[in-house]
Amino acid sequence: MLHVKDLHASVNEKDILKGINLDVKAGEVHAIMGPNGSGKSTLAAVIAGKDTFEVSKGELTLNNEDISELDPEERAHKGVFMSFQYPVEIPGVSVTNFIKTAINETRKAKGLKDMPASEMLKFIKEKADLLEIDRKFLSRSLNEGFSGGEKKRNEIFQMAMLEPKLAILDETDSGLDIDALKIVANGVNKLRSKDNAVVVITHYQRLLDYIVPDFVHVLMNGKIVKSGTKELAYELEEKGYDWIKEEINA
Ligand SMILES: Nc1ncnc2c1ncn2[C@@H]1O[C@H](COP(=O)(O)OP(=O)(O)O)[C@@H](O)[C@H]1O
Ligand SMILES: [Mg+2]
Repeated sequence: MLHVKDLHASVNEKDILKGINLDVKAGEVHAIMGPNGSGKSTLAAVIAGKDTFEVSKGELTLNNEDISELDPEERAHKGVFMSFQYPVEIPGVSVTNFIKTAINETRKAKGLKDMPASEMLKFIKEKADLLEIDRKFLSRSLNEGFSGGEKKRNEIFQMAMLEPKLAILDETDSGLDIDALKIVANGVNKLRSKDNAVVVITHYQRLLDYIVPDFVHVLMNGKIVKSGTKELAYELEEKGYDWIKEEINA
């Protein structure tokens, strides 16, 4: 599904990603952990195609197709979903209307007509029920006065509706309380399937109590320095990150 090889990225001449290798197969959930400032959000942004970062080297493919030159919208249309893709507050535009537009944009990019209104309603209802989202929430203005948990609910709802092949959830800086963590975890668990893949970025091991990853990677100073299974997350929780540095230097 996702193949990243020797990826290097910088901002203002400052190297941030220094040779990332990552392979994510369909059906898998990968967690990326690491200390603050190690480059986790940068990696997510570079995969999603944000132009803040200069990619100087490396391969980035989605289902064997080179996506490195595509802009973020094109990547989204190919099935890449990034949390906080749409963090903007849009007064007067409801959660539902926003997602309708996003879905029809994606269809247009594929040469399809707008989804018929009745089908769209059914689809929205189905996903809202799956995620136990209240109808009232769907008519709220996008992100306007949303609590942390509501922002997460909206994000997971967008993900459910867009049915991405690859979802990247950057949960590091969002100050998640336990309820918000559960909303994210529930959503991911309900939406994970053999056809999609999820990359969860977090520095809280706690999230991984609810989302059980197939693989855990540690990102430090722009490189993935260790990979393992969920046990690695527990080891990090217990011992922090310093022992990995020592291991590398040994
Ligand atoms: N737009 C930017 N301009 C300058 N430096 C940046 C920018 N974005 C990120 N960085 C720097 O890149 C490094 C990695 O940041 P980031 O990817 O946000 O780390 P993490 O998500 O792991 O905490 C940090 O040193 C950060 O200060
Ligand atoms: Mg971050």
